[in-house]
Amino acid sequence: MSGDHLPLRRVDHIKFIVGNARQSAYFYRNAFGFDVTAYAGLETGMREEAGYVLQQGKIHFVVASPLHRDHPDNQRLALHGDGVKDIALEVDQVADAYEATVSRGAVGVTEPTRIEDDNGVYEYATIETYGDTTHTFVNHDDYRGVFAPGFQSLDPARYSLSTRRPVGLKAIDHIVGNVELGKMDEWVDFYKQVMGFSQYIHFDDNDISTEYSALMSKVVQNGNGRIKFPINEPAKGKRKSQIDEYLDFYNGPGVQHIAMSSADIIDTVTSMLANDVSFLSVPQTYYETLPERVGEINENMAKITELGILVDRDEEGYLLQLFTKPVEDRPTLFFEVIQRHGSRGFGIGNFKALFEAIERDQALRGTL
Ligand code: FE2
Repeated sequence: MSGDHLPLRRVDHIKFIVGNARQSAYFYRNAFGFDVTAYAGLETGMREEAGYVLQQGKIHFVVASPLHRDHPDNQRLALHGDGVKDIALEVDQVADAYEATVSRGAVGVTEPTRIEDDNGVYEYATIETYGDTTHTFVNHDDYRGVFAPGFQSLDPARYSLSTRRPVGLKAIDHIVGNVELGKMDEWVDFYKQVMGFSQYIHFDDNDISTEYSALMSKVVQNGNGRIKFPINEPAKGKRKSQIDEYLDFYNGPGVQHIAMSSADIIDTVTSMLANDVSFLSVPQTYYETLPERVGEINENMAKITELGILVDRDEEGYLLQLFTKPVEDRPTLFFEVIQRHGSRGFGIGNFKALFEAIERDQALRGTL
């Protein structure tokens, strides 16, 4: 029933607007193990903003910063701090994707645009989603350049390949949006009706609550199942939930976390810890009750416990996951590392322990 009017291939890239793209590129490279593969800025003829392309496995990030005070993204930085502006989706036909979504009620931002340069043809079009986040439909089948028009390969003297520290992240698993109380169903309907997604799973505050916070979440996915977007809204708790805290500091809805898959989470987390990435930690008591909750799993449990990796199981299998702390000063965007062994879930069995960990941090921030 779904996915027919909008065939999406995959998440092409995620674009972040940040205060200082050069320094963000350094962070994602040295802490998260990305390669910096392309650059656009004054030296490449880009006058308005500077951008760096980061790549690891099939994951592409673009971090960009405005170069002038009248650039419209300055307002975004003042409102949100650093954060995700655009989740770009690769399509067969950009014009068809734009027409299919706008005719079903999507708000257009940029009409189908075709750029031709020495490297071929790059096509894109952009629509709005929650908050001021956007989806850009892109097709670069006939583009041979390093990323997109305006970008050039990075000067190897700037980021030497010999000092790269890959951590084994492979692909985007899911991207989570936080929306306001009462708005989750609206955005789930947007993804179903406008984007042709189907609802995959849902959690409510009976599943996900602690003494202080609760949230509701529904997960939508596209036709080929490669793109999964959980949408969260706060549920009324005794105090301010982590979703409320996000909405306050981001000043509205936006991307809460990006989950990236690993084929060996023990190796990935070991490397990221060595790179000084800060992860949320659960108390050791979590591991005392783990065997009865997830049963026998074929993992090095001593390592799992030592690294603080979380485990969850459902009827289809199990998954291993771990969450970073927010990567900005504002308690907004964070990342998840996930390794799936059959399970297609999102770690609901870990939510309570996780929320309690987040609430300990909220208490330190004075936002609980
Ligand atoms: Fe997640």
